[in-house]
Amino acid sequence: MSGATIQIERVEVSLAGHSILRNLEFSVEAGEFVALVGASGTGKSTILRVLARLIQAGAGEVKFHLTGSDGPPRTAVVFQEPRLLPWLRVCDNVALVAPGKRAAERRQRAREALAAVGLSHALDLWPRQLSGGMAQRVALARALVTAPHVLLLDEPFSAVDALTRIHLQDHLMELWTERRFTVVLVTHDVDEAAYLADRILVLGGKPAAVQAELPVRLSRPRDRRDPYLAHLRGELLAALDRSTVVTVG
Ligand SMILES: Nc1ncnc2c1ncn2[C@@H]1O[C@H](COP(=O)(O)OP(=O)(O)OP(=O)(O)O)[C@@H](O)[C@H]1O
Ligand SMILES: [Mg+2]
Repeated sequence: MSGATIQIERVEVSLAGHSILRNLEFSVEAGEFVALVGASGTGKSTILRVLARLIQAGAGEVKFHLTGSDGPPRTAVVFQEPRLLPWLRVCDNVALVAPGKRAAERRQRAREALAAVGLSHALDLWPRQLSGGMAQRVALARALVTAPHVLLLDEPFSAVDALTRIHLQDHLMELWTERRFTVVLVTHDVDEAAYLADRILVLGGKPAAVQAELPVRLSRPRDRRDPYLAHLRGELLAALDRSTVVTVG
């Protein structure tokens, strides 16, 4: 599997009469891992919704390109909360969106996706029987089962404890290393952004646009204790601080 490129050109979004995004421009390379950070209410989730085509931009363009294909790339989204259907067991939650004509084939794909996130033992559980971390893993499996070219993650690990978050981050990193889908990760967590991403975009202003871009010049696998990450954290916090005082028009 490989990723698709994303190009956002002069995108504008207004919601309920308020201008949320203006002149938003950035691109993501095929297989690149980009993190999007910014203060609460800036418009990060709005950007993901535009990318997922859940809302339409009022102006500008969002272009996806998949090498060797004319069709649109497959896109999957993981939200902050797992959004599982409570009346379906774990395996069926994932099988519901799995590709395949026959139910048995879809269930097999679901079992494979759940195995990839370390949940082979949880196939027959109900969503209410899962811990927060397990439920987020199911949500990740449900996204991965569609074999996405683009994976959009909206603070997927923010509701779990610090240790579980670290495990989930490492798991995501393994899956991405293996499959190289393109990732746009929205996160509040500057350490998460620095540890996972190839590049970090800082969103700010009202209406919002990209205020700063920080490349993460660190090879993988990464060590969380690498002094470079601590340095980057400082730069990122400074950029975030500057971005919150910028006001456009
Ligand atoms: N459906 C909507 N109608 C009107 N305004 C909206 C709607 N959805 C979001 N907004 C507004 O758009 C702005 C950006 O919201 P968005 O959810 O994208 O922010 P965010 O950066 O994801 O914030 P957070 O970090 O808190 O999740 C906010 O001011 C919010 O109030
Ligand atoms: Mg949000």
